[in-house]
Amino acid sequence: MKKEDLQKLLNDMSLEEKIMQLVQLPGQAFEDDAAITGIAEAEVSAKVKQLAGSTLGLHGADKLRKIQEEYVKNHPHHIPLLFMLDVIHGHDTVFPCPLGQGATFNPETSKKGAQIQAKEAAADGIHVTFSPMADLVRDARWGRVVESTGEDPYLNGVMTAAMVEGYQGDNIADHDHVAACVKHFAAYGGSEAGRDYNNVELSEYALKDQYLRAYKKTVDAGVKMAMTSFNTLNGIPSSGNKWLMRDVLRKEMGFDGVLISDWGAIGEMVPWGLAADLKEAAHLAIEAGVDIDMCTESYGFNLATLIEEGKIDEKLVDEAVLRVLNLKNELGLFEDPYHGASAEKYEKLTFSEESREVARAAVRESLVLLENKENALPLNSKKISLIGPYVDEKNLQSSWAITCNADTNVTLRQAFTEAFEGTDTELRFANGCTLLDEDADLGFFHSHLDNFEADNEKLLAEALEAADFADIVIMCLGESAFQTGESTSKAEIKLPEIQLELFKKIKATGKKIITLIFNGRPLDLGNLPEESDALMICFRPGTEGGHGIADVLTGKFSPQGKLPMSFPYCVGQEPLYYNNFNTGRPKPTDRYSAFTTRYLDCPNEARYPFGYGLTYSDFEISEVTLDKAEMKKAEGISSASATPSLYADGDKIVATATVTNKGKVEATQTVQLYIRDLVGSRVRPVKELKGFKKVTLAPGESTEVSFVITEDMLAFFTLRNVFETEAGKFKVFLGFDSATENAAEFELK
Ligand code: BGC
Repeated sequence: MKKEDLQKLLNDMSLEEKIMQLVQLPGQAFEDDAAITGIAEAEVSAKVKQLAGSTLGLHGADKLRKIQEEYVKNHPHHIPLLFMLDVIHGHDTVFPCPLGQGATFNPETSKKGAQIQAKEAAADGIHVTFSPMADLVRDARWGRVVESTGEDPYLNGVMTAAMVEGYQGDNIADHDHVAACVKHFAAYGGSEAGRDYNNVELSEYALKDQYLRAYKKTVDAGVKMAMTSFNTLNGIPSSGNKWLMRDVLRKEMGFDGVLISDWGAIGEMVPWGLAADLKEAAHLAIEAGVDIDMCTESYGFNLATLIEEGKIDEKLVDEAVLRVLNLKNELGLFEDPYHGASAEKYEKLTFSEESREVARAAVRESLVLLENKENALPLNSKKISLIGPYVDEKNLQSSWAITCNADTNVTLRQAFTEAFEGTDTELRFANGCTLLDEDADLGFFHSHLDNFEADNEKLLAEALEAADFADIVIMCLGESAFQTGESTSKAEIKLPEIQLELFKKIKATGKKIITLIFNGRPLDLGNLPEESDALMICFRPGTEGGHGIADVLTGKFSPQGKLPMSFPYCVGQEPLYYNNFNTGRPKPTDRYSAFTTRYLDCPNEARYPFGYGLTYSDFEISEVTLDKAEMKKAEGISSASATPSLYADGDKIVATATVTNKGKVEATQTVQLYIRDLVGSRVRPVKELKGFKKVTLAPGESTEVSFVITEDMLAFFTLRNVFETEAGKFKVFLGFDSATENAAEFELK
């Protein structure tokens, strides 16, 4: 449909029809067995069902075609219904969770994954996915860190922009693609004390300089939808924050797509205490520019009255409806309301060998090797025992793989049996203990607390027998899938006690131990690093988890993942992030020097910093050289929002270092570029990631790695409250993690 025709259609619609375009109903309203992610049960009248503009949680090509056919027929203007769903890291084929994708430091991998997810979801009837999540996360207590690509604004930006490109392709009308929705705007990751749905207090400086950068990259990548967040920002719930939505998101950041509330978030302004009732909440939200009300009665029951009473202008409704109609049109729904969905097509393409191969490669790239003493890995023993609750655990995804069948995930037992078939290596397997402690609380996911029937004494006896048999034991430990995702905040970030007990008992046998950890957040690893010969972080690897891990453990591939979030010594360090400020009393070199910024009982630094991860080889990097010592400052350039094209034609400096593989195997290393602005009108972080490159080198091989430093990379939200650069000195670091001190200096003049 032509854009002008959309306006005509709008003019033709009754006020009731228009308002209902802004109402999103939970899938239950249309079907009983929808994959609903919340609790609200909609008691909806036939009229509401006839007119509501969108729904979420449903999937299934035949089912959705039927609903759509009926809906379009009955709608007075035959406007199609929009189907939305959380396709976060897989529709059928499950890719590593977003945090695991962050560890790949490879946007291409995320793009390919998003393409496959879009294809599977679109064929199954979906038009919009509620992904990616571009929230900056710094606090491991928050369970939703699993949905983010980590603690760095630059990494988050490139990864989530790649996801948007993968989901949306060049044209969302294309039947292999869906519209993406960036969430949760804004700064949901800053929830106080890591407690979900909590308040967020941030200065405008921290918000704009750090938290908004990744969302902005997705806007620049053309994301079609944005979602408000549950949190308050400096005392105002996002769904009622007019400044945040209209001034910042739309005007400064240039977002012109559809803005949807998070589930029930408009209604939540009542318990927050910003609105007295749903009518006032609707008033605040429509003024703020929220287009779609996800699953509350606020818009449906109140917008007409607000217009009648002269409290809001009908124009506010019209502009929101036009954006919704525009999205439907861009998806091509007026021409094909099914967007090409068909059960036959879906059956043919979903969960294909090729998709699984992409997922398997992604797992290999996402694994982060934290310890490898005396080259304990790759495996070279003839008697290997895998012990722990993750040996047979099928649920290798996060709680946000809602349409994926965990039974199709490849377990460690399956993958290792396959990998060693026909060889003279003998394998034993034992679960050792239950996954969770008896008193574990899974909150909303309580129905998954189903493993306490097990006889832990018997499991332990089997484990000890398996350890006794082996030359080397692989301990397969981790959090439950249901301790990751929404509403899974934790005040302790350790593994379940029962697993730590099992580890202790196996350690006492004196066998070599490789520890694998399945997790959705950075953990306090206790003494596992000291007591393991090797330790690898596996995140929530998805469908091909077992295969990808076996590929790396057996040495077919060297690990290459890098931590996307700092791992602490203990929970008291949280929130913990590498790009912090130096303070006026920086970390002492003399441990006991008085009155400096330090803990008495714990180091300041991360136990394993952002960007850290070993390979099976040993890499060296030379000193950093710069092609010149000065960069010429462009004059008079500033922007209201971080944008990559700010200084497109400006001066450049090239930073170079030589990387050498000094080890015995081919491996891939990720060279990371960090910059520090030494003096600013506002205090600047000690280091900020500005680029990274992967190099694959054979043993003994060297290569030069160069980064072009542009003035854009130096811009920040200055005291003048704009993005611009300031003259002065900068340090350029090149290294293999965020703790590198390998640096050179230049001046911007
Ligand atoms: C979550 C969102 C999600 C929405 C729809 C909410 O509870 O916060 O991330 O997209 O539900 O399922």
